[in-house]
Amino acid sequence: MTDRRHFIKIGLAGTAALAAGCTEIPKEEEGELHVAPVTKANGAVILSTWDHGLPANAKAWDVLASGGSILDAVEQGVMVTESDFTNRSVGLGGRPDRDGHVTLDACIQDHDGRAGSVAFVQRFEHPVSIARAVMEKTPHVMLVGEGAEQWALENGFSRNEIVLPEVMEEWKKWAATSNYKPVANIENHDTIGMVAMDATGKLAGSCTTSGMAYKIHGRVGDSPIIGAGLFVDGEAGAACATGVGELAIRTAGSHTVVELMRQGRTPDEACRETLQRIQRKHKELADMQIGFLAIRADGAYGGWGLRKGFSYALRTGDRDELVQAGHQFDE
Ligand code: GLY
Repeated sequence: MTDRRHFIKIGLAGTAALAAGCTEIPKEEEGELHVAPVTKANGAVILSTWDHGLPANAKAWDVLASGGSILDAVEQGVMVTESDFTNRSVGLGGRPDRDGHVTLDACIQDHDGRAGSVAFVQRFEHPVSIARAVMEKTPHVMLVGEGAEQWALENGFSRNEIVLPEVMEEWKKWAATSNYKPVANIENHDTIGMVAMDATGKLAGSCTTSGMAYKIHGRVGDSPIIGAGLFVDGEAGAACATGVGELAIRTAGSHTVVELMRQGRTPDEACRETLQRIQRKHKELADMQIGFLAIRADGAYGGWGLRKGFSYALRTGDRDELVQAGHQFDE
């Protein structure tokens, strides 16, 4: 019933636009939208990107179980990944930019849409916690670079000067040729994005990354950008992205997913329709991966990747597992 109403709504909107002399807005592939039955959690649900999401979810679940808030859960969950210095795409263990600097991006957002974000920060272990402090202690949403670092030092955060010789060796070898070719699901196995809902229906999300390996110094991806790497609106849902950040920024990807859920799409449909839009707008997507995770305000959840290989960690009262997401391309 819901799906049928959805089609009727699009049909009327399109007719009205044409009657008003407007250019017809390209529709997504409507026939392809109905991809999976809606899966709903009976109670709290936590989703996070890739297999590094499993220990992050475990921590977030523990936080909820011990009475912490959903915001505490999404912060402390991804802090586990930030502190894992064997992780080459999140936190200080991440691969550096092309000049040899590890630069970090993170953001956090709560049920009511309050948000905090930091970008291009160096030598701090927990950028997601700085992002939360920006949200809670300043009138701003986003601080970047030296200003963010200075503000963090003034507000109780300390530097972590760790340098990982194996990471620098790998970078030096790469720098000898500077031949960067992204490999989907390997070098772009990047951000941890987490979206979660507690048993009362409160939503929150977080995102943290060292970004694309060997990027141009100063490049910032989608992960700290509210609406691109993460978007939460308690009235509609929450979504996060992982993969080539430029694709998520150009389409305001996470915001798009949430807005489609607001219009009645299931989480899988919303993620997939956003990916279809990315496909339509980008002729060249070879080797690129991008995936979205989503929780709708009614507790329905799902995720979808551009190509095979995108997985996400799922935690509910009765499930704790890695899920292979549906995908658009087999290769
Ligand atoms: N998705 C992370 C980045 O592109 O930096």
